[in-house]
Amino acid sequence: MNYRETAYVEASDAPLRNTGQIKLHGAGGFAAMRKAGALAAEALDMMAQKIRPGMTTKEIDDLAFAFGMDNNVLPATLHYRGFTASVCTSINHVVCHGIPGARVLKEGDIVNIDVTYIVDGWHGDSSRMFPVGRIPRKAQRLIEVTYEAMMRGINAIRPGATTGDIGAAIQSYVESHRMSIVRDFCGHGLGRLFHDAPNILHYGRAGQGIELKEGMLFTVEPMVNLGRPHVKVLKDGWTAVTKDRSLSAQFEHSVGVTAKGVEIFTLSHSGFDHPPYDRHEQ
Ligand code: MF3
Ligand code: CO
Ligand code: CO
Repeated sequence: MNYRETAYVEASDAPLRNTGQIKLHGAGGFAAMRKAGALAAEALDMMAQKIRPGMTTKEIDDLAFAFGMDNNVLPATLHYRGFTASVCTSINHVVCHGIPGARVLKEGDIVNIDVTYIVDGWHGDSSRMFPVGRIPRKAQRLIEVTYEAMMRGINAIRPGATTGDIGAAIQSYVESHRMSIVRDFCGHGLGRLFHDAPNILHYGRAGQGIELKEGMLFTVEPMVNLGRPHVKVLKDGWTAVTKDRSLSAQFEHSVGVTAKGVEIFTLSHSGFDHPPYDRHEQ
């Protein structure tokens, strides 16, 4: 438990930076997040149609940038703290923050694509796993467990619940499948800021952490490893990989706490929230 009282503040009264206080948003913020979230989801739906063996992660990045241009929005990751790409592309044992480049996708790879666009000043942040062609059974299981873990975390959200309830729901499900949850990266508040208070840990104990209140906006984005939970960051300063080189997967939704429970802003309108992604060829 925090040694200080958690501070909450009406978002409209708060300065536009991370003060450590938790911003509570009204109907306007929810409407803006609905729009930003829908665009992130649409970009990932587009990716589901495009991912195939032989393409490079740079081509994925180009698609994400072009999608932004077509919709008059900028990717939030572009020049964010020195990151220079429009998406993160994290393949196989890469846990998160993979930098797009010359790496060619090959049959059997699994790749996470993480997109965030700034829509009218608001951030829609989401990621999904994409199988490249046919993938091994264990990779498929990892993806299924990771998606289900995220959804169990999200379903723990309602006013009066705690961040520990989210983490406990995720961690217990992952560990019951003999997989491990990454501790070094977490979900985050967002809205007009990309990364804001509070941190949303994907592990923990029910009832601990901070209390969830109506109007909070944040992400749930668990990273799950087939092996041990430990990660290291490569010399490029970004790419996080599993220390034991085991496979890793991640899904991410942006959500808001409502009076009754939770609203997910980044749902796919094409039913492509998780693989398999049917190709609707015409
Ligand atoms: N989209 C990532 C997240 O879920 C953040 C990426 S920051 C970057 O929070 F700089 F690596 F792109
Ligand atoms: Co995020
Ligand atoms: Co993200």
